[in-house]
Amino acid sequence: MGLGSGSTVARLLPSMVKAMREKGVEATWVPTSLQIQAVAQELKVRVGPLTSPEIVKVVDGADQVDSRLNLIKGGGGALLKEKVLLGSARDSAIVADEKKFVERLGMGGYRVPVEVSQFARETATAMLKRKGSKDVKIRLDARGYPAYSENGNMLFDALFDPIEDPAKLEVQLKSIPGVMEVGIFVIRPLTVYKISPDGSYKALNAQT
Ligand code: A5P
Repeated sequence: MGLGSGSTVARLLPSMVKAMREKGVEATWVPTSLQIQAVAQELKVRVGPLTSPEIVKVVDGADQVDSRLNLIKGGGGALLKEKVLLGSARDSAIVADEKKFVERLGMGGYRVPVEVSQFARETATAMLKRKGSKDVKIRLDARGYPAYSENGNMLFDALFDPIEDPAKLEVQLKSIPGVMEVGIFVIRPLTVYKISPDGSYKALNAQT
């Protein structure tokens, strides 16, 4: 089982582990960050490496979900490992509060996280702008220092007009030298669980 990062997965994990244990299933959980690895270890579950050959299912959160179930992710900086898992799993489930749903990604000024090698700081900034970004911010930590991903790369947050074609923009941004990963996720097959404030949910499916 692949585990995305963030507060949603951290809150879900104890009940997922409990439900599986009640069925007699002891899964191996593959975390995408130290944050979620720590939660998994706290629960004393078996933790496996990201190189695990077969991920049956990934459970993850999202920052924004559009009307075609494309996602912005990477608010916590775990986008590279999350993309590896979500891109290779047989099946994926995203759990997201209904407030995160928008018609098109980038609406409301929500920025796209981009993981960039430090060597490409200036060139990648210029090229992101050439590819249509209105503004590129280097993500900073609480004390104002650049925030680095667990892979040792810088994190940028790039502003775009609401995104018409996420799959196309993802490819364009990933072609920039020094860009290691982009927080646009077009994952298929995918089930997105849209959670209402009263705790009820709708399961939405994206097949193609
Ligand atoms: C981590 O880098 C992200 O992709 C998270 O999956 C995303 O930011 C959702 O986080 P929350 O569940 O904390 O909202």
